[in-house]
Amino acid sequence: MQRRPNSVVAAALLILTWLGAVMAASSAGCGKTPSIKSQQYTMQVNGKQRQYIMKLPDNYDQNRPYRLVFLWHQRGGSATKIVQGEDPNRGGVVPYYGLPPLANNSAIFVVPNGLDSGWANNGGEDTAFFDQMAKTIEADLCVDTNLRFATGFSYGGGMSFNLACSRPKMMRAVAVLSGAQLSGCDGGNEPVAYYAQHGTSDSVLNVSMGRQLRDRFVKNNGCTPVSEPSPNGGQSVKTEYKNCKAGYPVTWVIHNGDHNPSQVDQGSSTPFAPKNTWDFFSQFT
Ligand SMILES: *[C@@H]1O[C@H](CO)[C@@H](O)[C@H](O)[C@H]1NC(C)=O
Ligand SMILES: *[C@@H]1O[C@H](CO)[C@@H](O)[C@H](O)[C@H]1NC(C)=O
Repeated sequence: MQRRPNSVVAAALLILTWLGAVMAASSAGCGKTPSIKSQQYTMQVNGKQRQYIMKLPDNYDQNRPYRLVFLWHQRGGSATKIVQGEDPNRGGVVPYYGLPPLANNSAIFVVPNGLDSGWANNGGEDTAFFDQMAKTIEADLCVDTNLRFATGFSYGGGMSFNLACSRPKMMRAVAVLSGAQLSGCDGGNEPVAYYAQHGTSDSVLNVSMGRQLRDRFVKNNGCTPVSEPSPNGGQSVKTEYKNCKAGYPVTWVIHNGDHNPSQVDQGSSTPFAPKNTWDFFSQFT
């Protein structure tokens, strides 16, 4: 008769442990009636006014922990330009980096607006902006805090890279499109799942700069370096690094194009960044 109570206690402990694991990933906003909507917001960060645009999933469910995806714009860009998109045939970015149609309402998107249209991150002020957005959003909306992501093109790639360096515990993965170290790398010694793409003909931030960022995470993630892959003519070539620490993959896509977030493979009219990015992000659940 001793056995039953013990097994009941054991089962209860197991359930509590499981609940703890599940609940640990849910933000304080889970279960709350949200006040944040799909619109622009303003906040004060270190005495400066900052803006960001929110995009909630259709039929937002306050009890479902969502992915939280930050979309950083390029130099001279803006949050509005990310939301509206610009002609991809002229080197523009498709709306929201093309991710919402792929996300199937599994993600909350955040589109921050840069000071002087960029992410110089002076004194860490853009990292502080990120911290304050994440805190504010997660207090109000239901976010899976194991599933925060960042992506961006060019300067926005630099800002995504900076978060991989400075906020490795917060970021599940980043996707750096034609990026360089432009927003700093405070820290930068811990693993973060890392996707990047770059063109060998990049006339703005040359490909060596993208390789340099990638190699930091090849090292941090414990992956085995490979000899430098080349594009296959007009086709991009994807390299998935081997032997990375579990949960910390690195994927590198090399193409023969210029500084372009909307590069397509020869014979295709669809930019490959959105699908590559979402395939990379959505492997984490
Ligand atoms: C989209 O999400 C819904 C609800 O979570 C799911 O039922 C459906 O299968 C998903 N569709 C695709 C194409 O993944
Ligand atoms: C890439 O650009 C950097 C910075 O302008 C420069 O130092 C480096 O020599 C360039 N590398 C190549 C291969 O052009």
